Amino acid sequence: MSQNKKTFYITTPIYYVNDVPHIGHAYTTIAADCFARYKRLKGYDVLFLTGTDEHGQKVEKAAREAKARPIELADRVVKRFKDLWERLNISNNDFIRTTEDRHKRAAAHLWQKVKANGDIYLGEYEDWYCTPCETFWTETNLVDGKCPDCKRPVEKLKEPSYFFRMGKYQDALIQHIEANPDFIQPESKKNEILSFLKKEKLRDLSISRTSFSWGIPVPDDPRHVIYVWFDALTNYLTASGFPEGSETFNRYWNNQDGEVLHIVGKDILRFHTIYWPAFLMSAGIKLPTRVFAHGWWTVEGQKMSKSIGNVVDPNEVIEKYGVDQLRYFLLREAPFGNDGDFSVGALKGRINGDLANDLGNLLSRTLTMIEKYCEGKIPSFSNNTSVDMQSEMNIKNRFPIDVDRHMNNLQFHLVLFDIWSVIGSMNRYIEEAAPWKVYKEGNKTKLNNILYTLCEGLKIIAIYLYPFMPTTAEKIWRQLGLKNNFDGMILENEVKWGKDISGTKVCKGEVLFPKIET
Ligand code: MSP
Repeated sequence: MSQNKKTFYITTPIYYVNDVPHIGHAYTTIAADCFARYKRLKGYDVLFLTGTDEHGQKVEKAAREAKARPIELADRVVKRFKDLWERLNISNNDFIRTTEDRHKRAAAHLWQKVKANGDIYLGEYEDWYCTPCETFWTETNLVDGKCPDCKRPVEKLKEPSYFFRMGKYQDALIQHIEANPDFIQPESKKNEILSFLKKEKLRDLSISRTSFSWGIPVPDDPRHVIYVWFDALTNYLTASGFPEGSETFNRYWNNQDGEVLHIVGKDILRFHTIYWPAFLMSAGIKLPTRVFAHGWWTVEGQKMSKSIGNVVDPNEVIEKYGVDQLRYFLLREAPFGNDGDFSVGALKGRINGDLANDLGNLLSRTLTMIEKYCEGKIPSFSNNTSVDMQSEMNIKNRFPIDVDRHMNNLQFHLVLFDIWSVIGSMNRYIEEAAPWKVYKEGNKTKLNNILYTLCEGLKIIAIYLYPFMPTTAEKIWRQLGLKNNFDGMILENEVKWGKDISGTKVCKGEVLFPKIET
């Protein structure tokens, strides 16, 4: 870890442990992984965090139903998450559990800072409470007397509670969002939050509970536990080394040159762009740089829900179709920020079309020709051809710039679209250059140039594919006979055209993407 590298701190939401992981959780985590891997390739010092949200009434209730202690339930479910992340090749540097001591210390410390600033007072709270969502709603928020988010029944709750002076930060929040147009992305979501802030007077927020005990005790008043969202949001600070003063905290959080990015689902955007920055402002802590809200997946056109019984288990998809196939599908199918629909038909279409036909065939055709015409070794390139092969395949010029811009905007589908247009150009190039004819004509120099160019192109697109499909990228390199490990690779050093790869012995291996029967 070099001192002078720019830092990039990226987080997923921490997942509730009252439920096992599904495709929605996998989505956020894969997206964050893709971006983290890309930033590492670009030379950043990356801290990538995911974890679990283990306190609160919802978890306490689920544990009771499972006849287990909350921590036992948590331990069990955490394992499911960790196993899935390993299978999906998630490259997180840390996994935080809110039941860890380091987190309890951080949450209590944040509480004390906010309190010292005069923003916490004791009162009594009464309102409609939705337990599944851990959210209080006012009468006017309710839809047909039910929770406006999950449409389930709510109950009237009254209890002594500490409050946070949320209203005090309303203007500062508006100012911050207006002064930092990229703070909330996509743009449509920023507008939503801004108009909400301008329209509704923010009520003070109840940030402690006495009606249950599964939580972090309030400092100096242990009859209360800290409200689960105050607790959960603090996880981002905990893992960056908070309380202040630590070297890690200064590096990843409290660093003017570094970026801190939270990726969240659209349903939890308000917590991240109103509550969270307000707590931080109160405590005098720097705000994250960006919060990006992604959309939701439906399944075969329907909302995914336990009661419908259509919840997609990522493990099953992996078993049937493969890890990289799932990663590719989720990041290609829907623009990040929009909703998407998960369907077996669409998944198979992407696998057979984009992956097997376009990419898989490109590699296998190229390697077959190298074996047939060049004794299995990548030939050398002579600079005496009038054709600029790189431009021909669109790899030069705008491609790296476009990829970088789309990546930084989290427009993963556009990056993939750009990569696939290079793949398309390469496939067309094979047809047009017709190496089999050139071979028959006996023009060895031309033949070598064509095949070398294809290998070089494949090597480079594998690097760009690496953040999306790490195993596939490694397989392509291995089949090209290139020995390297993508860990620690710096993109700019490797994608230079003409870093001579001639002479390597290719090793045509397994089919990259077996076709799926439709
Ligand atoms: N524990 C809170 C987050 C605290 S962050 C400080 C939480 N957990 S969750 O497990 O319920 O949800 C985690 C994420 O999964 C959310 O970002 C949510 O948007 C996402 N998804 C849940 N269902 C989803 C889909 N059907 N599609 C895409 N993402 C979805 O909220």
